[in-house]
Amino acid sequence: AKAQIGVTGLAVMGRNLARNLARHGHTVAVHNRSYGRTKELVEEFGHEGTFLPAETAEQFVASLERPRRVVIMVKAGKATDAVIDEFAPLLEEGDMIVDAGNAHFADTRRREAALKERGLHFVGTGVSGGEEGALHGPAIMPGGSKESYEALGPLLEDIAAKVDGEPCCAHVGPDGAGHFVKMVHNGIEYADMQLIAEAYDLLRQAGGHSPAEIAEVFRGWNSGRLGSYLIEITAEVLGHTDAATGQAFVDVVLDQAQQKGTGSWTVQTALDLGVPVSGIAEAVFARALSGGASVREAAAGLPGPTPSVVGGSLVEDVEQALFASKIVAYAQGFQQIQAASAEYGWDIDPGAMARIWRDGCIIRAKFLEHIRVAYDKAPELQSLLVDDYFLEAVGGAQEAWRRVVVTAAQQGIPAPGFATALAYYDGLRAKRLPAALIQGQRDFFGAHTYRRTDREGSFHVLWAGDRSEVEG
Ligand code: 6PG
Repeated sequence: AKAQIGVTGLAVMGRNLARNLARHGHTVAVHNRSYGRTKELVEEFGHEGTFLPAETAEQFVASLERPRRVVIMVKAGKATDAVIDEFAPLLEEGDMIVDAGNAHFADTRRREAALKERGLHFVGTGVSGGEEGALHGPAIMPGGSKESYEALGPLLEDIAAKVDGEPCCAHVGPDGAGHFVKMVHNGIEYADMQLIAEAYDLLRQAGGHSPAEIAEVFRGWNSGRLGSYLIEITAEVLGHTDAATGQAFVDVVLDQAQQKGTGSWTVQTALDLGVPVSGIAEAVFARALSGGASVREAAAGLPGPTPSVVGGSLVEDVEQALFASKIVAYAQGFQQIQAASAEYGWDIDPGAMARIWRDGCIIRAKFLEHIRVAYDKAPELQSLLVDDYFLEAVGGAQEAWRRVVVTAAQQGIPAPGFATALAYYDGLRAKRLPAALIQGQRDFFGAHTYRRTDREGSFHVLWAGDRSEVEG
């Protein structure tokens, strides 16, 4: 018998995807650069389903039914190109290579175009949910051709997480669309994590609560509108005690956040598209700031307040600030998806993205259902913030949100995520922005011209002359 699908690259993500496929009754060909891993997988988990272990790429390809579905799960970048170069010559027209790693969408576009010329489908696929998700049901975001989705979709939908029986998997759009959406998912993940971290910091420093108490607060929030995987695991992490010292775990971890790059890609791409994803950008920069050990050391003596405990309704206020800021971060991320969709002609359905993120992925959250509904009602929605549900939620939260940003500033507690989200909100709602002044400055030093509020056309003031206005 032949295998319906094959997985090459059997580190933990690849192994778990292969096991998930096998557990769903599919025969899975498995291959790894070193055969040891392949053997291990079959020895340890062979009882879970039918695996066809292959020692060589040739054996692996020969064990697959046509059209062949080859899932590669290796490190993004050079390793992916190397595996493609190894397998593509062995494949035949109509076969498909599925890249389930966190590749940059521009690489995916390049690879898709190159393989298309050889009659092969290249399907850049976002997979979210970490190790556990890969095994028990991730959210899956496949790009590539519609035709490839017909052959591949049913298998992926089978192993994806489900919400009320609906799979957290949908064809995102052609070529790099799947990896693009996964990248933005990760950008939103960064923003969400940063906002949660700021909420914790405020409750700790301005609220005077212990990590264990804050864990309880998060547990409570998790059963409300903030209910989400990230809030849930935050409570777990905050509630954890370090065995070696007996201290709160969060107090023994070095406060320098690392990153593998997808957050930065999201921001770089947003800059190219001209979409203000300030929440994601602040999250990436906050990680970079935390990691700058020597600058932090040099700056440790900078003057400023020492945080002290404030009274009032801080816990409730922070909940509101967190919810509102989170909505802003998602609104920005969805705007980026829509901008890229228009730029690359992907025709992405944003409501479908919200639908497949409701479970399985790292940013799974209750409120994604509201995003789904918002886009179902109005697919051309300009911003999530103007949808009824979100407008009301943010409108109701904004006073508390402002109090939190004020408290953070007064107490000297950095809250870049909350602050930038609020500035974005106020920027969007402003009747007039000081951008008018910037236009004036540009015209002054560079004759860059400006448009007027009362007439069509572009204009320039003769700043160095009699300051009369001419057509620009
Ligand atoms: C997911 C995660 C996954 C990975 C991140 C972590 O959706 O399952 O996003 O892709 O855990 O890339 O990113 P950092 O190491 O950059 O925090």
